[in-house]
Amino acid sequence: MDLTWAKRIADLPPYLFAEIDAKKNEMRAKGVDIIDLSVGDPDIPTPPHIVEALKRAAEDPQNHRYPSYEGLLSFREAVSDWYKKRFGVELDPKTEVVALIGSKEGIAHTPLAFIDPGDIGLYTDPGYPVYPTSISFAGGVPYAVPLLKENGFLPDLGAIPEEIARKAKIMFVNYPNNPTAAVAGAGFYKELVDFAVKYNILICHDAAYTEIAYEGYKPSSFLEYDGAREVGIEFHSLSKTFDMTGWRIGFAVGNKKAIGGLGKIKTNIDSGAFQAVQIAGVEALKNYETGLADRIKIFQERRDIFCRGLDEAGLSYSKPMATFYVWFGVPAGLSSKDFSAKLLTETGIVVTPGTGFGKYGEGYARVSTTFSTKRIAEAVERLKEAKF
Ligand SMILES: Cc1ncc(COP(=O)(O)O)c(C=O)c1O
Repeated sequence: MDLTWAKRIADLPPYLFAEIDAKKNEMRAKGVDIIDLSVGDPDIPTPPHIVEALKRAAEDPQNHRYPSYEGLLSFREAVSDWYKKRFGVELDPKTEVVALIGSKEGIAHTPLAFIDPGDIGLYTDPGYPVYPTSISFAGGVPYAVPLLKENGFLPDLGAIPEEIARKAKIMFVNYPNNPTAAVAGAGFYKELVDFAVKYNILICHDAAYTEIAYEGYKPSSFLEYDGAREVGIEFHSLSKTFDMTGWRIGFAVGNKKAIGGLGKIKTNIDSGAFQAVQIAGVEALKNYETGLADRIKIFQERRDIFCRGLDEAGLSYSKPMATFYVWFGVPAGLSSKDFSAKLLTETGIVVTPGTGFGKYGEGYARVSTTFSTKRIAEAVERLKEAKF
């Protein structure tokens, strides 16, 4: 059989972490002690009260059957109660909330609901690689809006060419941001609403990291701003807030018609998240502050250790106010990829080259502080010895 892949996958660059994994394995096979700071996957276990809720729910045969695609009403109510408590945003759990099998699933499916072949989908670059991929899977044309240091890693909406903005149907935006760790304030979100209204663009705000924030800083929801609900939806994840990456549970909230569109795609593709996991999600959201400050403290300590290491190595960065990432400039004269490869060869430390998140990531690299404090301290020691 002469089996060929469809162009939509044949043309894709290898998934970012696949390439890094291959290099890492090659080094490991050579006996190198690798310190991998590349993937944002918390090492901290899921809090025990959430695990207990899953155990109980898993034993109930009612939860062994197909779930509803939009999620249990009790889960959607817990989401809406949490939004009210945390952001002061009122949501109708029946029409403005949909459960997701992780926010990645919702992000990847959203363009199918709003992009016709040839339509433009805007996304910020550097960014989560799923944004451009999902736009092209839907037949759309991804258009990268740069996140530049001089703009505080916020997109300059005024610099998007008029003819591009007019053809755009959706825009992915993400704050607190992966990979730059930048945060956005009221001024930006208000501008974003105006831009969306002017060009009739659905804003898809990825808010996966709002709860991982330091020194009392509380990131806002896009939906807190006037007019946002008319133009946008927000993706949320239990993965990062509750150290539940493996559980695959998240949600999207906001504009009714947009949530309905995403729901329609989901009814035709998946059958919802395992109910027992949704029930554990209810427990997580209802008691969302349980242990959160302690978990954040761990990430903050690691952030500080790594930032001190960067200071000693003479590498530039802005101290993150949120996310568990540190985005730093690579030494002059080296590309992001060359720096990451050299660092891996010389020190056994794996970082993600900035260009893994898009072309505007050139000149940068990202580390994730989701690895043990001891290993991060060891990485810092090795970094100090490295010669660039
Ligand atoms: C910006 C961003 N959005 C979404 C996700 C997906 O999270 P999940 O599918 O686990 O909810 C990630 C995961 O790394 C992320 O970094």
